[in-house]
Amino acid sequence: MTPKDLQTTHLPRVEKEMINFLTGVTTDERLLASMLYSIRAGGKRIRPQLLLAVVSGFDKPVETGVYQTAAALEMIHTYSLIHDDLPAMDDDPLRRGMPTNHIEYGEATAILAGDGLLTEAFHLLSSAVLPAEEKLLLIQLLAKRAGSGGMVAGQAADIQGENQRLSLAELQNIHQRKTGDLLSYALVAGGILAQQPVEVLAQLEQLAAHVGLAFQIRDDLLDVTATTAELGKAAHKDAAAGKNTYPELLGLDKAKEALSDELAAAEKLINELTATLPFSGELLQELLLKFRL
Ligand code: IPE
Ligand code: IPE
Ligand code: MG
Ligand code: MG
Ligand code: MG
Repeated sequence: MTPKDLQTTHLPRVEKEMINFLTGVTTDERLLASMLYSIRAGGKRIRPQLLLAVVSGFDKPVETGVYQTAAALEMIHTYSLIHDDLPAMDDDPLRRGMPTNHIEYGEATAILAGDGLLTEAFHLLSSAVLPAEEKLLLIQLLAKRAGSGGMVAGQAADIQGENQRLSLAELQNIHQRKTGDLLSYALVAGGILAQQPVEVLAQLEQLAAHVGLAFQIRDDLLDVTATTAELGKAAHKDAAAGKNTYPELLGLDKAKEALSDELAAAEKLINELTATLPFSGELLQELLLKFRL
């Protein structure tokens, strides 16, 4: 699988799984429109790409069940963004280059669109064309990473930490939960779909810790250094909102260094995987290039 295959063949399949599934199960027209609004707004689709890169790195066939797992993950990510943008959370007007879901559909529908995407992600995954045991593992891990010991816990700590100065360790913990955990799912689910043993899943999880932290450090840095037009979401918001971020805690230069360190560690672990397993890490390395500033 090349980066081009990923964009032109595989991501459109993930897209189709999300749209067809939601269209098939949703009975309320306005609710469906609001869910599809945020799904169709696009985004980088980094989580599905990482998942697909792991499956294909192990030279496993990318079949319907893989697309369905990637689709479920992206649906959960999209719900997390809709809720993250709500007035009671980060209160953001722009996402993926478009007005946020609550600006377009109103707060009540946006909350329900998030509820729908979250629930239907599990509906889709539990209906996926995969062996039952594999599916059970995937469902359980997704619940763990997305739930109240994972992403939701990170979001809770992020909000509770506003206008308080946290330690670097506390901030890392928030970043691992709110962002790292769904990225971790992408990599480990790829390993599960490629029928890898627990030791290899543990190695993927170790890799994911660096990938996840790098991703949120980069997001924090871009909030400071990029423009709203470049990001498709409001820039320069974190400091005003009293958020704990890498640049706020360490300064810009040290935050950039931390990003480089995490990416270097990730690169090293991918090389180790490639050296010790029947695994080709090229596509994964290629995707990590996008994590640089
Ligand atoms: C934004 O995620 C929220 C974070 C976890 C930092 P992405 O940067 O992956 O957003 P999209 O999916 O590309 O819009
Ligand atoms: C969001 O982190 C993480 C999740 C949505 C789980 P941010 O609040 O920093 O993400 P952006 O900057 O709004 O995309
Ligand atoms: Mg937030
Ligand atoms: Mg936000
Ligand atoms: Mg941010």
